[in-house]
This record gives sequence, structure tokens and C-alpha cells, in this order.
Amino acid sequence: TQSNSCNSILHKVYVMGFNLCMDAVVSVFPNGRKELHTTRSWDFLGFPRQVIRRTSVESDLIIGMLDTGIWPESQSFDDDDFSAPPSKWKGSCQASPNFTCNKKIIGAKYYRVNGEFPEGDIQSPRDTEGHGSHTASTAAGRSVSKANLYGLGSGTARGGVPSARIAVYKICWSDGCFDADILAAFDDAIADGVDIISLSVGGSSPYQYFEDSIAIGAFHSMKNGILTSNSAGNSGPDPRTVTNVSPWSLSVAASTIDRRFVTDVQLGNGEVYEGVSINTLDLEDLYPLVYGGDVPNTDAGYNGSQSRYCEENSLDKSRVRGKIVLCDWTYNGTIIAGAVGAIMQDDGFNDAAFSFPISSTYLSTNDGNRVYNYLYKTRKPTGRILKSTERGSESAPYVVSFSSRGPNAITSDILKPDLSAPGVDILAAWSEGTTVTGDKQDDKRVVPYNIISGTSMACPHATAAALYVKSFNPTMSPAAIKSALMTTATPMSSSANSEAEFAYGSGQINPIKAANPGLVYDMGENDYVKFLCGQGYSTKNLRIITGAKTSCTFQTHATHVWDLNYPSFTISSSKNSKITRVFHRTVTNVGTPVSTYRATIVAPAGLTVRVEPSLLSFISLGQKQSFVVSVTAEISESVLSGSLVWDDGVHLVRSPIVAYAST
Ligand SMILES: *[C@@H]1O[C@H](CO)[C@@H](O)[C@H](O)[C@H]1NC(C)=O
Ligand SMILES: *[C@@H]1O[C@H](CO)[C@@H](O)[C@H](O)[C@H]1NC(C)=O
Ligand SMILES: *[C@@H]1O[C@H](CO)[C@@H](O)[C@H](O)[C@H]1NC(C)=O
Repeated sequence: TQSNSCNSILHKVYVMGFNLCMDAVVSVFPNGRKELHTTRSWDFLGFPRQVIRRTSVESDLIIGMLDTGIWPESQSFDDDDFSAPPSKWKGSCQASPNFTCNKKIIGAKYYRVNGEFPEGDIQSPRDTEGHGSHTASTAAGRSVSKANLYGLGSGTARGGVPSARIAVYKICWSDGCFDADILAAFDDAIADGVDIISLSVGGSSPYQYFEDSIAIGAFHSMKNGILTSNSAGNSGPDPRTVTNVSPWSLSVAASTIDRRFVTDVQLGNGEVYEGVSINTLDLEDLYPLVYGGDVPNTDAGYNGSQSRYCEENSLDKSRVRGKIVLCDWTYNGTIIAGAVGAIMQDDGFNDAAFSFPISSTYLSTNDGNRVYNYLYKTRKPTGRILKSTERGSESAPYVVSFSSRGPNAITSDILKPDLSAPGVDILAAWSEGTTVTGDKQDDKRVVPYNIISGTSMACPHATAAALYVKSFNPTMSPAAIKSALMTTATPMSSSANSEAEFAYGSGQINPIKAANPGLVYDMGENDYVKFLCGQGYSTKNLRIITGAKTSCTFQTHATHVWDLNYPSFTISSSKNSKITRVFHRTVTNVGTPVSTYRATIVAPAGLTVRVEPSLLSFISLGQKQSFVVSVTAEISESVLSGSLVWDDGVHLVRSPIVAYAST
């Protein structure tokens, strides 16, 4: 069983009371009208529309999307020019009123093992939340020109593998995503013949692998040659919040792209303050401004020290109607009854913007105080909230504050998250069975495309990159594909993310480089069983995960968890200690048959790294070579980040080396 609450603020917004949480932050980023930037993320990754593809192979690849379903009428899922589904496909399309599959969406089913459907949800693979349509189109949506959100972000929307097929497994409902449904969907997806499973869902905190339905499902998919791509969670920036930490699945953090959205507030005195939000509507006129703390709903027993946060029902409706309310920030998506706009202020994070049912923006406390002073000094204070506009972001990419951070709470010597992908301000398909904010009462904006943020949005970017790798390397194992993505990721900088690898893992995905990684750190089921024995699990718990009669007695249980053939290196120890750790690794040549790789080490003060041998020579593809990495670390407060790069003059095969104080 999983916890029954999603405790991050981001989850509370629109994803309430989930058993498991969709790692969605329904925050929408508008923008001004600029170039064709809509699905800016792929271009930002250096993965242009004209990239070399093996289209015929790609169109035989199938993504299993375990999510909230899909909006089949979206242009992103149009099947014009698609051939019949690949012959390996064994799945089906569950009969539901006015829901049909096509040659793009080749299968769709819904799961609700307990048989009780929440009120308002429909018994159909149809998406009435938006999340599933958004993630599916980010991964595999076809190119759609002039996609936008009320003119914001207008341009071409596209998925990373636009020729791939989509198989829909609806496991999330308005009350959450349940373990039994997740496990049933994994079983079906594996049997149906999908090539990858994309799952932007997770618990609100990390679970032991044998208590984690997603880790168990992903283990079974791995056994069947299918990689599971997961979101890392939206509980950052606190440490040890990363979820979906099983080493056989991919854990994806959310990073920014080079655009952000801002929303200006103009006061009656002409002053203008820049805030953050997705605001699709310019108020066009000045409206009276009131402070939430001055208009409590006294009839309901509220006073000013409560109503200043503008919580639901705390404001006197008759005194906010037709006005703009200044709030000392409460961010839970509540709209302020009858108000035309809201200015929110506090010192929280402003690296992700949110959408609200009414015109809104979010200011720093400094600017908020200025608005407050104006309001108090002026007899008839007024303000106007403008439509959002697009700005560049020179510091991108960095990992956004809400993205869950390592270290890995379950296995402290395996680095998580694995890598980063764009998860902020992502424009993609939306469900027309809901609204921009998901609020069906106070928000009337039904849109075909929406701009939202979350590690949920990062995950399908990595899913598509993994399938792109697979289209060039059809026989690669899940571990090899994962290794290709990790060792070719673009290193990120700790200047923006002091948690370093615990924020971004190996770095930002680079799909083109990943398709030709040179060497891979490969693994199979048996390696993970040894790892689980090293984790100290009992035979009973081991078998819950493997679903087979595995036992540690017959395995080398001397295996240390850090000797898993992982494409990164992690050492945890107590603070102010000095530790030497020996890692054993094996790489497989998937690059040039005859090649020689030289080891390059980067190590900061306090970290000494030796590699034996430091030269690896290959004479054929598929050939394996082993080596030993010895690391001596002086563990202090801060994370020590180094790296090992194997370089043959063509490929750079990079692994981060991380040492940190776990106690
Ligand atoms: C599907 O059918 C229902 C009931 O007939 C209808 O209300 C709804 O608008 C239809 N949806 C679409 C997308 O056609
Ligand atoms: C406002 O109400 C709360 C809860 O009833 C109470 O704790 C608080 O003291 C009140 N504040 C003022 C200023 O009266
Ligand atoms: C917002 O918070 C109030 C209580 O402060 C709660 O009643 C309401 O359900 C919350 N709304 C959402 C969307 O979480």
C-alpha cells in the first residue's frame, strides 16, 4: 500500500488525496507571441524537428502510457499517414462510448480494480484530467503547427518520437492512482508488447522496493526487456525526497528551458511590478484593489489574520466582488469568490508559474510590500493584471525547485535522480473534458493545448529519448538504454543547484548523443537480484519483487549494492570521515568495433580517484571489458562531485562520482 496523501504544495493544487500522486504541477506558463517555440523543449535539447530518424523503425515502437487516459480527438494524436499497427502488437481498445483508437493510439484500456468509480469520472480510457494527454503528446505527439494557449507559446507542438505508437493504460482517476490498477496495467502492457513504459506517477515519499507497486511493475517490465521511465517526484527541494528510486527504472528530474513567463501588475499610480504566473487574460482596465486581511468573512468566524492568506471562504464575498485582492499567499488553487484578480506575495520559489481561474500573479515580498504600501497610502487604490509575456532565461538549464532531490533514501549508495529533462513551461496537448486549471466550476477555459510543469512533464521527454535510442539500437536492454541516456547527458552546473547531482543526476538528456553512446554499462535480472541481496532483503521480500523463486542463499550475497553495474558512482559515509571505496564495473562496446578508450578523471579537493586499467581496448562490438575504480573521499558537509569519462576520441562516456555525508 502507498501513503494516502501527496504532501507537496504542488500536489495539493489540483491533485488532491491521491493514493499515488501524479507528478504534475498544473502550472501553466503563457508567453507573448514570438517565434515557433511551442514545444520549445526539444529544440532547447538540441533535438530539432529535422533530426535524422529511422522513421520505419520508430513507427514500429510502442509507448505504454500509464496515466489518466487520453483525449483521442487531439490533433497531436491524428493518425493521418500512419500505417497499420505493428504486427507484434497484441493489445486492444476497450469498447467505450464515443472513444475510438486509431493508428496512432493503437490501444486503450482503463483500470479500476475496486470497481468504484469516483463521481464525475467516466468509465472510459478518455482523459478528463489533461495530464495523460499532455504526457503522451510530449513523448509521441505528431507535429501540430500553431498550437498555443490563448496565443501564449504559439508554434509547433511535437513529441520526441512523433512516429511512435501510443498504448494507453488509464490508471489514474480523480481520487488517485491505485496500486492494484498500476500492477494490472504493467502486466497488460508487458503482454501487449509495448517497447517502453512511461509512468509520471509516484508516491509522496520513497518506499522500499518490495512495498512499491511501481518498482515491482518496473522489475517485471525489465525482465521482459522493457524500460520503465519514471518521474522523480515534485517534493523538492528538500533532500531525500526523490521517489521511484529502483535501479532498474529511470528516475527523471525536471529542469528549465530557456524561456519563462512573467505577469505584470500595474498600479493606479503607474508603477509596474513583474510577477510570475500563467495569465491568459489581460484585465485591460484598472480595478479597485483590496487587501485580503481587511475583508475577512466575519460571518463565518474569520478574522484578518486568517483572511490575509485568502483561503477558501475566509474572504467577505461582498467586499471582494469586482476587485483585485492582495493576498499574503496561499497557494492551493482556491479562487477568491467574485474577485476579478489576485496578487499574491511571499518569499517562496518563483521558478515555476501556475495557472489560476482568475487573473493572478505572484510577486516577491519586496514588491508585494510596495503594493501594500500603495494600497494603504491611497484613498482609492486600483490595479490591473496584464496578460503574461515570454522572457528568455540565460541560466537554463537548472533543476527547478519543486523537483525531488536525492540522496536516495532507500539505497544511499546508488545515485538518484538519474538525469534531468525539461519539465517547466511545457506546452502539449490537453483534455477538452476539463479546463486550464482543472477547476471545472470557476474556470471555463477549455483548451486543446496547455502549458504546465512537473517532473511528470520531464519523464515523457526521457521516455521519447529512450525510444529514439532504441530505434537505432533495437536490441539494447533496458539497462543499456538507460546507460546510454545517462553517460551522454550534458553535465549541469552546481552553481544553480547546490545539491549538484542530487538535483540533476548525470545531467540533461541529449537524445542524439545517446543514440550512439560508444560504451554501455549493461545489466540483467540477475545483477538486480544480487543487488537486492546486497540491500539485505529477506527471501520473502526479494520474491515479492522478482515474482520468481529467487533466493539470496544461491546468489553471491557478498555483493555490495555499489557494485551494481550502474553508470554512476556514489559513496555515502559519516561526516568528517575518510573512506576508500572500490567499485567494480564492466562496459560493453556498442560503438566502433576496434577502439581504445582512455579514462579521464575529474576530482575536486578531498576526492582521489584511481581507475585500473585506465586504458580499455576493444576489437569487436559486444565485447566487454572490466575495470576497478578506487575512490578515497574526505567526507565533509558538502557534496563532493567528480567524474570518470571514457574517451576514444569519438565518444565521451561520462559517469558522475559523488561522495557525501549520509549521517
Ligand atoms: C461523448 O459522449 C458523451 C455522451 O453522449 C457526450 O456528452 C460527450 O460530449 C462526447 N464526447 C466527445 C468528445 O465526443
Ligand atoms: C483570529 O482567529 C484565530 C482563530 O480563531 C485566533 O487564534 C487569532 O487569535 C485571531 N486573531 C485576532 C487578531 O483576533
Ligand atoms: C484549499 O484550502 C482549503 C482550506 O484552507 C481547503 O478547504 C480547500 O479544499 C483547498 N483547495 C484545494 C484545491 O486544495
